[in-house]
Amino acid sequence: MEFFVTYQAADHYSGDCSVAFVFKDTTHENRILQELLELHRFEAKLGETLMVGKVEGYKSKRVLAIGLGESPLTQKKYIKVLKSLSSAMDDTKVKNVVIPSLEVEGCDDSWLQITTARVLKNECYQIKKVGLELEKKATVLEAVNIHSENNGITEISKGVAIANGMALARELGDLPPNICTPTYIAERAQLLASTYNLKCEVLEESDMEALGMNSLLSVSLGSSQPAKLISLNYSNGGKEDPIVLVGKGVTFDSGGISLKPGSGMDEMKYDMCGAASVLGTMSAVAEMGLKVNLTVVVPTVENMPAHNASRPGDVVKSMSGQTIEILNTDAEGRLILCDALTYCEKFNPKVVIDVATLTGAVIVALGKHHSGVMSNDQNLADSLKASGISSMDTVWQLPLDDEYDELLKSNFADMANIGGREAGTVTAACFLARYTKNYSWAHIDIAGTAWLGGSKKGATGRPVPLLTQYVMDQV
Ligand code: BES
Ligand code: MN
Ligand code: ZN
Repeated sequence: MEFFVTYQAADHYSGDCSVAFVFKDTTHENRILQELLELHRFEAKLGETLMVGKVEGYKSKRVLAIGLGESPLTQKKYIKVLKSLSSAMDDTKVKNVVIPSLEVEGCDDSWLQITTARVLKNECYQIKKVGLELEKKATVLEAVNIHSENNGITEISKGVAIANGMALARELGDLPPNICTPTYIAERAQLLASTYNLKCEVLEESDMEALGMNSLLSVSLGSSQPAKLISLNYSNGGKEDPIVLVGKGVTFDSGGISLKPGSGMDEMKYDMCGAASVLGTMSAVAEMGLKVNLTVVVPTVENMPAHNASRPGDVVKSMSGQTIEILNTDAEGRLILCDALTYCEKFNPKVVIDVATLTGAVIVALGKHHSGVMSNDQNLADSLKASGISSMDTVWQLPLDDEYDELLKSNFADMANIGGREAGTVTAACFLARYTKNYSWAHIDIAGTAWLGGSKKGATGRPVPLLTQYVMDQV
């Protein structure tokens, strides 16, 4: 599927299909179309679609009416409109289409182009079934033309780059955990590096031992899959200090000796979605060729029980020198992230943002709508909130007061790796905050937003839109 900006008005387009947007309780300027809409009792409810045949006044072979509901058209409503446009295209086997320009409340033409391309392309994502060719989709849509009156701007390629980054994140998330191992993630990172000419470094367990990353290494003791620490550098921003993104890459989280209950355990293959999203963001930023310096760090392990796995009560010394009493081997994300966060200091980061499916508690607090954000720098938290709103991949801030940090007290080490039942998302972030004192840092808990369950089971590609928008906003 390819996207184009066209300066030609929708009714002058002579291709397969022209979209006509219709607000509720308004009369369309094309009298014949209006009569057809009335004939079919088209109510212009938000997302309602009606494919009518050839309409006089339109050069295209067909016209697809799409309801916009009541004005004003908000960002969220526009996303619904795009999703029904996409399924109407699937149903009707249209090869090419023109979408007229329209006003979305508070948004400019650039937002409209990026969002249209991103959402339509992301809708085409297909799960790759192991050992099978991709199923042939009903859609034969080849060209999407987006009408713009604003000569000169073509921001479509940015929307495509974001959708490609989301597709990478979704693919890695959806792959089964016997395929998507730490070694596999390292291979995909190397592939990304060769595609975009990035610097890539993969630390092996022996390298991490030499650096004193005993906390990270403790998590994968029980697994036969070797741990990896991947870093990718994209340098296109001159002498600026880099933005550093860190993604939790637990390719399967059984809980370890603190074993999780069996039901739904398969979903713990998604415990590497933080890693997938920072790689997806790197892909998007590199494809756009943004003038920034971006570094991505991925600690990746598998958390398994075994005779040699770490056990509750073990004490380990992290790379930072701080010691940790492991009271629960299922609180493993923070154990790999803390060493990765210490490692980040070597990049002299402008900011460090870590992304992790860290706590079930964030799902209780925020559901599947907002990701949780916590930060030691209010400006950074505010920037992330703003980028979240414009990309419609939002975050909600939770606090980080000292009172929560006190819950991590241990009699046997500098800290315990869990803080008890209360405020689980916040105490997890307080743990990380102890390793990020030397730079501006934010933590994004995506346990609720990175994948969907039920019949829509699968990775969402979030927060690639948020992170990419954040990087774009820094240029
Ligand atoms: N990967 C999980 C968090 C998680 C749970 C993500 C459910 C998505 C859905 C994490 O490693 C974990 O197990 N966290 C524990 C922490 C607890 C032991 C303090 C949790 O949330 O229960
Ligand atoms: Mn866990
Ligand atoms: Zn986990």
